[in-house]
Order: sequence, then structure tokens, then C-alpha cells
Amino acid sequence: MCGIVGGVGKIDFRNYLINGLKKLDYRGYDSAGVAVLDHKHLFLKKMPGKVEELSACLPASLPGTVGIAHTRWATHGEPNERNAHPHISMKRKFALVHNGVIENFKAIKKDLFKHGYGFLSDTDSEIVVDLLEYNYHGDVLAAIKKTMGELEGSYACAIIHADEPNRLYFMKNASPLLLGKGEGANYLASDAGAMIGLTESFVDLEDGDYGYLEPDGYAIFADGNPVEREIVARSKDFYDDDLHGYPHYMIKEIHEIPSVLRRLLDNYLDDGFVFDKNMLSMIKMASSVHFLACGTSFYACKVGVKYFRSIGKRSGASIASEWAYDPYDIGENPFFIILSQSGETADLIKCQKVINDNNLPNLVVTNSKGSTLERKATFSSLLYAGVEVAVASTKSYLAQIAYLALLVASLKSDGRVEGDIRTLISSIEKILADDSKIKKLAYERKDATDAFYVGRGYDYLAALEGALKMKEVAYVHAEAYPGGELKHGPIALIQKGTLVVGYITDAEKEASSRNNFVELASRGADILVVSDEKYTREGDLLSFPAVPEYLGVGPSVVISQLLAYYLAEAKGLPIDKPRNLAKSVTVE
Ligand code: M6R
Repeated sequence: MCGIVGGVGKIDFRNYLINGLKKLDYRGYDSAGVAVLDHKHLFLKKMPGKVEELSACLPASLPGTVGIAHTRWATHGEPNERNAHPHISMKRKFALVHNGVIENFKAIKKDLFKHGYGFLSDTDSEIVVDLLEYNYHGDVLAAIKKTMGELEGSYACAIIHADEPNRLYFMKNASPLLLGKGEGANYLASDAGAMIGLTESFVDLEDGDYGYLEPDGYAIFADGNPVEREIVARSKDFYDDDLHGYPHYMIKEIHEIPSVLRRLLDNYLDDGFVFDKNMLSMIKMASSVHFLACGTSFYACKVGVKYFRSIGKRSGASIASEWAYDPYDIGENPFFIILSQSGETADLIKCQKVINDNNLPNLVVTNSKGSTLERKATFSSLLYAGVEVAVASTKSYLAQIAYLALLVASLKSDGRVEGDIRTLISSIEKILADDSKIKKLAYERKDATDAFYVGRGYDYLAALEGALKMKEVAYVHAEAYPGGELKHGPIALIQKGTLVVGYITDAEKEASSRNNFVELASRGADILVVSDEKYTREGDLLSFPAVPEYLGVGPSVVISQLLAYYLAEAKGLPIDKPRNLAKSVTVE
């Protein structure tokens, strides 16, 4: 779960590699490193910590002809200098950066050890650079091909050979890697965002691809034969990651929600719904719609399940990492919907492979055009949310909910959804226009150590997402429970001052939920009720302008995002990059 970046040719390596790493540190920020070859001299600097710390230790310029860099989310080996990339082979012929996990690294390490190799790090990646050197007999491409045949697992690697200052080699399997075509220079990275500004022409590599870049060209091979891959254009507008005056990406991205929802309407409505007709008829014919996702996207799926059930379609949702163990439990003729902001989540890639191997149809709904999941999908739809930088998913959750509402409405040709989403937008705008009360409530609770998020029906789904935000951003132990479940055990944990966030957006369940809140208050809980103004009662601390019930999760979740954000701010936490996390979970 790392990010790699590299280039060859006339390049200001210091700027390119450091800026590229900054764009990729959503993939991990445990350590960072660069290597640049200048004639025969290899400059290498790597260290634990964020890219900014590495940058502060680099000279003003990094002259050279070929360079690579890495930002790490530690899998094998703690985040320290030894385990940071780039790794250098024992005889110093090769330098390499790797994103992925080498599953058979112990066996290879043992073999290399027998051949006299010693190791400096605890990583699985270091064996790759030594294996390349061991397999090298004068032809780097041949060494790469042989090495790929011996590796099991996922990898995207950028490789420098000490005697070839005008070539940057690469190889890829099951980890993302793109080439960028420049003028007098060529680039590669885990994500186009790292190369944007230098080029808008990209080549998405396929699994099994390897080859090299030179300043004026490149070559791609698969199975020993040259292959052509399509050149695709990606506009720099999508990658705008300027903070625009906001102190953090998380708050900026929450404030972008209304414009994201408007853009979604523009893309999926145009004198009627704009969805692939073939896809709609496959969904109609399917015996069930099954959702797969992780984290926040999974909680959006749970909303999608309710939408599909509301039109009489059998529907369910599974957490991707669990479904992969029990993939056939979905009945005959299913249609899969995979939700993934990044389009690169490893557990989903594994599920999609099972789905594709069984020739089953799948729709990928993602924010990342050209991502691994999008490219392998039967159908794909974009969220048009713009780049989401903060590790905490915010605007993409709202886009996912609105997309699913539009999709289901299109299946029953119900045009009312447009007005409903516009009502949702205006409700959210009013919340955002003055969030001072949310901020005050959050600051007053900055010492909370535990929180319970409670609701029924859609409100329980809002609770799930609210609790996740509180955990990951504010480091408060937070649990979501359906109101009816509290008395089956968890209420034992409620004591004086325990924070409870409760949601009320639904007439049918209001009375039962309010009873739950009274029961919790009698045991001393600090109850913070979030309600749709249609149901607001005296004592509810946060009320939002009314929306249709099926969209009530929208404002409830935006308020929960703000609560988590301000509580984290009050605690002085690293909001955009919480500890131990990465934006894109590219290892299982
Ligand atoms: O890119 P994806 O939507 O596939 O990511 C799924 C989860 O990793 C992600 O939603 C994660 O839970 C967020 N950090 C939550 O804010």
C-alpha cells in the first residue's frame, strides 16, 4: 500500500519526485525515499516520516538522468530507514521501488541467502531487487521476465540499472502503474495525479506488463512479446488538490459536497436519465443485486440495498474482504455493484476477479477513471467528485448515495429524484453555511473517549458511517448500534457522560428511537440528537432542513463528518492523515 514515482530524461528530479510523492502520500506516509542516477553516481536518501521531512533533508537540486521515489505504508517491517525504499541490490547494480506484497518472499529470501545474498531490511521488497540482480546476465529485460516468473503476489516496480542511465525499467502485477508521455522525458507512477502538470497523456499498464522508458520513447512487453497499450488523456482539472484557503482537505471536501451533487445530476440527467441501457436491462433481469465494498463505501452500499429493496429487487451487501472467502453465496444470475472511491482497493480487486472469472456482470462506481476496478468492469460509472485527498471519505460517500438514488429511480423511471436531490443539496448547504453549533458541541466533547451512534432503519446506516468518521479522524472509540439492539448487551457500557449520537429522520421509527434515547439518558448518557426538522423536538441539539426520508442519511452524515472533524481539530490531531491509515488500501 505504497506509492511509486519515476522518470527518465530532462527532468528537475527534486521537484518532480517530491511533488509526485506528495500527490501519492494518500497511499501511505510511514517513510519516503528517492534515488537518482547521475552518470555512475547513485544519489540515495530515504527515511521514516512524511515526504515533507524527506524534502527538508535533500539538497537544492538532484541532477541526474533517471530517478525513482517511494512513499510507504508499512506491511513487512517497521517504518524505519532500513525498511524505507528505494532498495539497492547487494552488488549495487539495481535500485528499486515497489508497491505491493510479495507472498513468496520468505522462500526466495532463503534461496538468495544460499547464493550468498545478505539482507539489510525486513521487507518483502528487498528480495525483488536482489532477485533481479541474481537473474541478470547482461540483459535487464530478460532478468525482469525471469524474476516475474518467480514472484508470487502483487507488485508495481520501478527499476534503475547502474549501467543504463537513460532507461527506467518497470514491471507490474496486481498493483496500479501508469506511464506518462512527456517531451524529452517520460514518467511513471502509481497514479496519474503524480505526473499531472508534466503530461496529460497516459498509458495504463496491464498485469504482466514490463518494459522500459527512455527520454524519447518507451517499450512494453508481455510474455516476452512487445505489446501496444492505448494512450489515454486525463485532464489536470480533475486533479485540482489546492486547499483553496481551507485548513484541511477534510473540511474542504465536506464543503464541496453541494457542487459534487450538482455535477452528478448534470452527468446522469439530461432530458431523462443517462445510464447505459444495456446495463439497466441486465439489472432488471438479474435475480438479485449484490453490493461489494469496504469502509465508507460499504456503508453507502447498505443504503443502496435499501433503495433496491424499495423497488422490489432482492439485494444484499458484503464486505469485500469477507465475501472473497464465500463468493458463491449470492444465488443464480446476480448483478454485482462494486463501490470504490479509489477503484484500487485490493480486497475488491480480488472479488472482481472471482466475478469476472465466473463471467458475471459487474458495475463499478468509482471516483477514479482508469483505475484497476474501472478498467476490469463490465460497466462503470464515475462519481465526478474531484480528487478526494483526505483519508476520511466525505464527499464521495454523498456522491455514492446520490448516484444510487438516481440509478434506482431510473429503473422505475421516477423523475422525482432530481427534485429530491436538489432538496438534499439545499439542506446540506444550510448545514455548511453555519456549522458553529456543531463545532461548539464537538469542542465541548473533546475529552470523550467512547461514543455510541444509534438509530433505526436508515438512521442506523447513518450511525455506522458517523461512528467510522469519529474513530478514524478523532480517535474516539465509537460503535454504531441499531436502537433495538442496545438492550441486548451494549447498554451495560453506558455510564455518566458517555457520548451518544442519535439520529431521527423517519416518522415510523421516531417513537422507538426516542424511547431508546430516554433509556440511555436515564443512565447518564450525554445524548446528542440529530434530527430532520420535520421530527425535531425540544432538546434535540442538531436539526437540519427537511429532506425526503430515503435521503436523510445525507444531512445526518454531513453533520457527523463535521462533528468528527471539529473534535479532531479540538484535539489537535493530524486530520487529513490519521495514524496507521492510508487513503487507498491496496493490500489485502
Ligand atoms: O477507495 P474505496 O472506496 O474502495 O475505499 C474503501 C475504504 O478504504 C474507505 O472508505 C475508508 O473506510 C475511508 N478511510 C473511510 O473514511
